[in-house]
Amino acid sequence: MASTYCIVTYGCQMNEHDSEIMEGLLQGRGYERTSDEFSADLVVFNTCCVREGAEARALARCQTLSSAKKTNPNMVIAMSGCVAQDQGRRLLDKIPALDIVVGTRDYIHLPELIDRNLDTGERLVAVEDIDKPFSVNATPMRLGGLSGFVNIMYGCNNRCTFCIVPKTRGDEYSRPLGEIVDEVRAMADQGYREVTLLGQNVNSYMTADREDFADLLYALNEIEGIWRIRYTTSNPKSCRDRHIGAVAGCDKVMEHLHLPVQSGNDRVLRLMKRAYNSRRYRYLVDLFREQNPLHSLTTDIIVGFPTETEEEFEETLQLVRDVRFDSAFMFMYSPRPGTVSAETMKDDVPLKVKKERVQRLINLQESICLEKNQGEIGRVHEVLVEGPAKKDPTMLQGKTRTDKRVVFPGRDRLVGTLVDVLITGCNSHTLQGTVGTREPVLQETT
Ligand code: SAH
Ligand code: F3S
Repeated sequence: MASTYCIVTYGCQMNEHDSEIMEGLLQGRGYERTSDEFSADLVVFNTCCVREGAEARALARCQTLSSAKKTNPNMVIAMSGCVAQDQGRRLLDKIPALDIVVGTRDYIHLPELIDRNLDTGERLVAVEDIDKPFSVNATPMRLGGLSGFVNIMYGCNNRCTFCIVPKTRGDEYSRPLGEIVDEVRAMADQGYREVTLLGQNVNSYMTADREDFADLLYALNEIEGIWRIRYTTSNPKSCRDRHIGAVAGCDKVMEHLHLPVQSGNDRVLRLMKRAYNSRRYRYLVDLFREQNPLHSLTTDIIVGFPTETEEEFEETLQLVRDVRFDSAFMFMYSPRPGTVSAETMKDDVPLKVKKERVQRLINLQESICLEKNQGEIGRVHEVLVEGPAKKDPTMLQGKTRTDKRVVFPGRDRLVGTLVDVLITGCNSHTLQGTVGTREPVLQETT
């Protein structure tokens, strides 16, 4: 009987993609997937440490699994991702049942590490020094599907004071344009129709040959078989006319921009070292919307950054009211050891205040989401049909070009196709509709 694996993934899309790459490697070795971590022969925790909560959840779940090892002593437990990169060998002391720790640049060696662990029983740590220049370039063995992620760059050269990512992912490195184009072509041949380009700052993509993000979008837009191109995350600091123009000029680039603002107050933005102020952010949004009027806009916001006052927080609320994001990820500040803010500033906004602020922000954003979704009723959207809806498998679900989830009745044969859906109802997170007959709203003037 084949050995089984279970990968438990935390955090961002980059981690999801790393998990996909590990899955490809494991299946290549004959492993079969299981969703039950307690009976698996190999369990990988692919971790995130951007906020304390995510890190604590991963460690606790790994500790819980340790007891299963008593009944299944051959089980191998590995930890990958940002916690593994950040803590390395220390994790072996913390979690006695842990066999392998593998860093953010080393996970492609996972199969060999497992073999060695099974052969020798040795506990192994493979965590490359993140300060070294980038060396790994894994073209993933993909398992197939409709939508896939593509890394266009690794790491980050910004040093936002709250953020652990540069420490766990290293300096920015942009992959050669031709290599990305080849990878996406191969995905199209394999049946993928949608790609999401991944990077911490995709719009600062710049190759050794001076090709930028706009060049990349124009090149990918030409690939036959690919219908939809998404990208995340864009940084306001690197938003340039060429980026905005390329988005407008490439028909396959979807009408959705994720542009993290973090705060609406200039003093807090300065403390965060975000390199723009609220006026500049608003200007960029206006400029972007002028050229791309049908776009949806989403963001990330942190509340309770050290020293943030009530008035300063209210400026964030005001920015949210003014910009009217289609949705937002909203977080309470979490000091991460090793970051500038954690080392030099006291986490002085009490938890109770952070909770109250984030709740007010969520309430405001939810009401905007609902109003915006209600505005979609009566419109027709082009939807890429993904499969059965999660909550009601008798229905289908898919995404609009603007990245909104739509649930609608339809036959299975629609899965994998583009359909026009008339929006008939909504809540703050999901649209409901019926397969319509009119032209997509994105070609209308209203
Ligand atoms: N590269 C992206 C974001 C990386 S982390 C960017 O340019 O913004 C994803 C999000 O997590 C961030 O946008 C931020 O809102 C949030 N985040 C990062 N560090 C955090 C911390 N210490 N506490 C709370 N939220 C944090
Ligand atoms: Fe983090 Fe700022 Fe880079 S949020 S990933 S340091 S752009």
